[in-house]
Amino acid sequence: MTDYGFLCRQLCSLSENVTEQITILSNTAALLSDALPDLNWAGFYILCGNELTLGPFVGKPACVKITLGKGVCGTAAERNETIVVPDVHAFPGHIACDSASNSEIVLPIHVGGKLFGVLDIDSPLYDRFTSHDKEGLESFVGNMEKILSLTHASHGTHTSSDIVLDAIRERRSIRRFKSDMPRREDIEKIIEAGLYAASGKGLQATVTIAVTNKEFRDMLAADNASFWSVETPDPFFCAPVILIVLGNKKRPTYLYDGSLVIGNMMLAAHALGLGSIWIHRAKQEFETPKYKRFLEERGILGEWEGVGHCCVGYIDGEPPTAANRRKNRVFWVD
Ligand SMILES: Cc1cc2nc3c(=O)[nH]c(=O)nc-3n(C[C@H](O)[C@H](O)[C@H](O)COP(=O)(O)O)c2cc1C
Repeated sequence: MTDYGFLCRQLCSLSENVTEQITILSNTAALLSDALPDLNWAGFYILCGNELTLGPFVGKPACVKITLGKGVCGTAAERNETIVVPDVHAFPGHIACDSASNSEIVLPIHVGGKLFGVLDIDSPLYDRFTSHDKEGLESFVGNMEKILSLTHASHGTHTSSDIVLDAIRERRSIRRFKSDMPRREDIEKIIEAGLYAASGKGLQATVTIAVTNKEFRDMLAADNASFWSVETPDPFFCAPVILIVLGNKKRPTYLYDGSLVIGNMMLAAHALGLGSIWIHRAKQEFETPKYKRFLEERGILGEWEGVGHCCVGYIDGEPPTAANRRKNRVFWVD
């Protein structure tokens, strides 16, 4: 019987200090192919838009794209559940990549609360995958998900314009965060994305205060809540990182500039597998003597207005889907 606990430990040690998803997936496919007897194919299909695209694998060349809902992989992805197929020839709509395959197991993989892709394993034996394999592989995938959530997509199949456009479409405001602190380097990347935002006359008339200190964050949350008519236990929804953006009132475009900074940050957070939300009332906070003094103490002198908070953290639960876009908001002049 396969020792899946040992396999999980091997996966962790192979993935230590590896930040590229493609590297982890490649080694994982090799690890499984090597460790599990009687396989003829082990690898990944990654969700790209509305279809699964072939990822790293060990085995014969395989089908490149699979539509959601089609074949065992597409069905497992669509149903969001592990599918064990004792006889692939009896599975309606089975997509035969290797004619030697007779049984198959497919497990969905989630990263950042969203479907990332599937692990697909084929065997030339009928009924190869037992309940022990199913449970073991589910726990193995659970470990993979944790490891992948700390890495960066390699986007092997995406063009850079796809990545940007997907991030714009898929980003949503998150209202349930885990308390775990995101990696410092990811927070820095999000801040950097804000620093690269367009600004009126290129004057970069904004500053960002990055709050990761829990005591300060909780105080800010309490102060923010005091400016809101709605009663709330935490206006930042438990997000552990609060990036406050302020605009220099001397510059005529400071509010637009600050808004773009936060927009860039939210997209960057999404691209890194983190959640974010814009929370308002930074203006009121930084009109108080307490927060004016806070700025002065840090040498941030002059007239600054709080534009907003970009709250960032790991998403707790499923991210929401976008509301339908309201119609009649675009007017062409051709
Ligand atoms: C200027 C601005 C202020 C916002 N302030 C808050 C806020 O104080 N509290 C909150 O829960 N959401 C706030 N949001 C988030 C919006 O509610 C959210 O963007 C909107 O519902 C659309 O959802 P989406 O971001 O998922 O598309 C704010 C968004 C913007 C752009």
